[in-house]
Amino acid sequence: MEKIRVGLIGCGGRQRVNINALLQMEDVEIAALAEPIEERRISAADATGAKRIYKNHTELLDKESKDSLDALFISVEPTAHDDMELRAIEMGIPFMVEKPMTLDLDLADKIAAGIRKKNLITAVGFQDRYLDLIQMMKEEIPRHKAGGIIRGSWIGGIPGVWWWQKKSTCGGQLVEQNIHLLDGLRYLFGEPLSVYAVNATGIVEPGVDASPEYDTDDYSICLFRFKNNFTASLASGCYCKGIQPHNGLLVILNDIILDYRLRNNLIIKTKNKTVDIMRGNDQTFDLDRAFIDAVKTGDRSLVRSPYEDALKSLKVGFAANRSMETGEVIYFEEEE
Ligand SMILES: NC(=O)c1ccc[n+]([C@@H]2O[C@H](COP(=O)([O-])OP(=O)(O)OC[C@H]3O[C@@H](n4cnc5c(N)ncnc54)[C@H](O)[C@@H]3O)[C@@H](O)[C@H]2O)c1
Repeated sequence: MEKIRVGLIGCGGRQRVNINALLQMEDVEIAALAEPIEERRISAADATGAKRIYKNHTELLDKESKDSLDALFISVEPTAHDDMELRAIEMGIPFMVEKPMTLDLDLADKIAAGIRKKNLITAVGFQDRYLDLIQMMKEEIPRHKAGGIIRGSWIGGIPGVWWWQKKSTCGGQLVEQNIHLLDGLRYLFGEPLSVYAVNATGIVEPGVDASPEYDTDDYSICLFRFKNNFTASLASGCYCKGIQPHNGLLVILNDIILDYRLRNNLIIKTKNKTVDIMRGNDQTFDLDRAFIDAVKTGDRSLVRSPYEDALKSLKVGFAANRSMETGEVIYFEEEE
């Protein structure tokens, strides 16, 4: 069997999840990896059996080529993207990149233009698009009268990675983490018409509850208007200590309620019936598999979140951040 030869850029927490998925695939070989932190580099080399090991993406991309690698998995801090995607495009190597793909929207536009020009296969790590529960919602919603309220939330504590503590290095919780639910809203309800957002700080004390550099939002709440009389609120919060509410999306239509509990279960309520469905698949495995299959077969329709589409979610996240700063409603241009 011809194996798809994968190169890894970054071997941090999230890439380990991709590695676990890739190691389960008999038709994939992790051939090369790049990681500046020695301990992570060695441990990823041990786990994957990769033969060609580099200290960073520049070394890897200098030494490798389209003849030695069929695909790249890029998983670095949001501010570390540098020229890795542009070089991959230049070399013609398809890539899967984690969200948020960068915090530099000009760079993201350049990357999207390069991908378009080369017609390159890409995927972004919006794992929830591959979740069976989200697919059930996507099929169920159009069967009912359009219009209603959606309440979304991702409220909890502060993730451990250093770069999460500063808004300038993570983009804020909405852009870094709750972008999953933001993207879910776009996936289920189409492009938003407008967003208004507020944020708050002062609950989390830097140096006490978080690192001394902590300056990101303790919480934010966005209000999105969509076509067809759908309106969604989306709350992000990282000020809770050891507790969290039910997070996810609550979709309230006139004859059905879809209560999606973040990556866990979906409670569907109608007048006479309530069903509770547990998550039945490993969505990161399915995302990575879809990307590998797209590379193998050339069938890009398998990828549910190519770079260009994911960039729309990123831009909506940044628009919400702008609304938090200015207090203004941001209106989006309607697509033809
Ligand atoms: N899809 C998801 O559900 C999901 C979940 C968690 C994190 N993420 C995203 O994945 C990305 C990585 O997050 P993480 O939690 O693994 O962070 P992390 O800090 O644990 O890992 C990032 C790694 O990238 C390495 N790196 C930095 N610059 C590099 C370079 N030039 N070449 C090679 N490696 C380099 C770092 O040394 C680090 O080990 C972030 O964008 C994050 O938002 C996605």
